[in-house]
Formats: sequence, structure tokens, C-alpha cells
Amino acid sequence: MSAVLVDGKLVSQVLRDKMKCRVDAMLDRGVKPGLAVILVGENAASQVYVRNKVAACDSIGIQSTEIRLPVDVPERVVLENLVQLNNDPTVNGILVQLPLPAHINENLILETISPEKDVDGFHKVNVGAMVTGNAKFYPCTPHGIMMLLDFYGIPIEGQHAVVIGRSNIVGKPMALMLLEKGATVSICTSKTADLSMFTRQADIVVVAVGKPNMLEASMIKKGAAVIDVGINRLENGSLVGDVDYQSALTVAGFLTPVPGGVGPMTITMLLENTIRSSEMSRC
Ligand code: GUN
Repeated sequence: MSAVLVDGKLVSQVLRDKMKCRVDAMLDRGVKPGLAVILVGENAASQVYVRNKVAACDSIGIQSTEIRLPVDVPERVVLENLVQLNNDPTVNGILVQLPLPAHINENLILETISPEKDVDGFHKVNVGAMVTGNAKFYPCTPHGIMMLLDFYGIPIEGQHAVVIGRSNIVGKPMALMLLEKGATVSICTSKTADLSMFTRQADIVVVAVGKPNMLEASMIKKGAAVIDVGINRLENGSLVGDVDYQSALTVAGFLTPVPGGVGPMTITMLLENTIRSSEMSRC
């Protein structure tokens, strides 16, 4: 058996085509959705992510503004930029690319972004709304994964989902979103004792740990949907996920590749949140 490839590039294109129609209709009414991205420092991976986010905005007609700040920028300057963007009516979405340098308080930064413009869904007001089941913005990576599961008709209700990873960006919101859709959810980490005891029972496994090849065929239930959020650069320069792709392919029912699985969906959901923020600001 060979797993069905869960093609994030394809699903992204389908969703982005629909989004472009929505943006075109807004442009016809003289409204242009706007996203502002703040990048602090020279982190190579962050630079690539931000470049891809800005290019995706441009491709569907969203106005993007990129603010690059030096690695030693005082926290106060980042906060001042955020206050200015919060007050700018042409900006519907604000994103501060993470991680931030150690001298900057990440929580303070995220909580200074207006919840109405928090297209990452990281502000505690939006996290709280998600916990109570009425979120305005869902965090982009888990939201993108939910869209992939939906697109491929993968059932969630009553299924056992195992999320490996407990980050605020992926693991925790992912678990909540699967729970909201009726899954029985186990949250594991890279330190979980006997991890395979959990994963072998899982109908859906989402791995977001940042460890190459940590989930392999013997840990996967036959036919399970395996979603790989990891992006790891090996010494030979190649890019791999957290799943041992070749072995998982022989057991899983559905499998996301790296690259081309979850990654494009994260950016697509950022576009969705920015358009929605613009639509909501005019209600
Ligand atoms: N760093 C890694 N993923 C993300 C994300 O989804 N949003 C932001 N702002 N930073 C990130």
C-alpha cells in the first residue's frame, strides 16, 4: 500500500484562486486588504518565510508592507511600530515573524498587536476565543492542516488524533481545533515515554517537533493520516520533515510531503485571515 499524497500546493492553489476572486471584488469597490509584516534580525529561515508571505500577498492583490528591523533593535521601537500599524486603517493584518531575539519579550509584542488585526491568531484574546469555540482568527498552520483534512475527506469526529508538539504556534492550537471537531485528542511531546504506544493507536498524527525522521513506519497505524509540520535542513542541504517519508508511505493512508505539504497552507491561511480581517473591518 502507498499513502495518498496530501498535496498542500494543489489545495493552496484551489483556495488562493477563490481568495483572489474575493480580493478582486473588494478592489472593484475601492478596498485593498493590507498586511504588515515585521521581521527582526537576519534569521535565514525567517527571511525565506517572510519573502514567501509577501510574495503570496502580492500574487492575489493584498497590499503588503515589510518592516525590517536590525537584530539589536530596542523592544520599544518594535512596540512603537506596532502602535502605528494598529492605528493605520490601510493595515488589516499585522504579523511579527517569530522567533524574536532574546532581548525582546515575545508575549509583550504579541499582546500589543490589536486583536482585530492579529492574523496569526496568537493574541491571548484570540487564543481565548478559540478555546471557547468562537475564534475570529485561527493560527495559520493548524488552520491549514484542518483545511487539508477537509479537502481530502479525512474524518475527524470520533477519531483518535495524536498531536506531537506543544508549541503555541502549532501543537496547542492544533489539539484544540481537532477537539472542537470531535476528535479524541492526545497531546504528546518529543519527550513522551513510549510515544509509539500513542501513535500506533492514532487515526490522525500531526508531528510538529523539529526532529528529522522521528516518526517512522513501525509507529504508524495502517491507513492513518500523517501530517508532517517539520522542516529540517540536513547537513547535505536537503529539506526533510519530522516523518521518515519513505517508510511512512508504505503504512499511512494519507501523508504530507516536505516541502509541499503543510508549508504552503500556512501562508494560504494567512491570506485568508487578512482578507477576513478586511471584510470584518467594513461590516
Ligand atoms: N514562525 C514560525 N511560524 C510562524 C507563524 O505562523 N507566524 C509567525 N508570526 N511566526 C512564525
